[in-house]
Amino acid sequence: MRIGLIAGSGIEDLYDDSEPRRRTVGTPYGDAEAWLLDADGREVVFLPRHGKGHGVPPHRINYRANIRALAALDCRCVVATNAVGSLNLNMAPGDFVIVDQFLDFTRQRPLTFFDGDDGIVRHVDMTEPYCPRIREALREAGEARLGGALHPAGTYLCCEGPRFESPAEIRMFRQLGADVVGMTGIPELVLAREAGLCYATVCVVSNRAAGISDAPITHEEVVGIMDARRADLHALLRATIAALTDDPDCACHHPFD
Ligand code: HPA
Repeated sequence: MRIGLIAGSGIEDLYDDSEPRRRTVGTPYGDAEAWLLDADGREVVFLPRHGKGHGVPPHRINYRANIRALAALDCRCVVATNAVGSLNLNMAPGDFVIVDQFLDFTRQRPLTFFDGDDGIVRHVDMTEPYCPRIREALREAGEARLGGALHPAGTYLCCEGPRFESPAEIRMFRQLGADVVGMTGIPELVLAREAGLCYATVCVVSNRAAGISDAPITHEEVVGIMDARRADLHALLRATIAALTDDPDCACHHPFD
């Protein structure tokens, strides 16, 4: 079974013993850049979310091409990571959150594979948005190593970006029940569900959200925490990917049944 992995930069060397083979995958939505990695005996298709050299901002990522490319390369399960700010005071910078719900505050991104062009209207169920099997694999892989720094559930709120939020927005989002805020989780998840792929993400808290700490948020702060947590993130992803099995009966594979 091939496993898809979508992450920011700094994951290419997840399997440093493996010589990655790079592929440009053509899709009806444009090209996606993929790296084929030999992952302790199984194949992982890594997609750097922000493209080569981290040049694509969150609102310009070609989410449809990325998900379509993973499906075309026979990935049935997709593990993702996202950097997030935390609204929940129990979730500290450096913590990992295996989110189980989302709120969508994106504004201008293509949001579906079903645009009605071919006369097909589809509404995908989102009762359990993130695959429970992958979330459980992430939890088991991370529990011993990360202890209290691993949160097994949480609500992810996706903003349009690329700016960070205002403190007033963060106050509103807290009232709505958000635990963490990011810019790249949606529509990626929604498209994976429409494509019948199992998908879950582990979020890495890189900062407290705007207004929760007094200091302004800087890109350097986000990058600094991600660098500091890279070894643990790598270990978590490797253990999860090694343990993951596919289940043809998983509800994720039957989104419109
Ligand atoms: N807000 C939105 N996206 C983010 C943040 C944040 O505070 N930190 C990392 N990604």
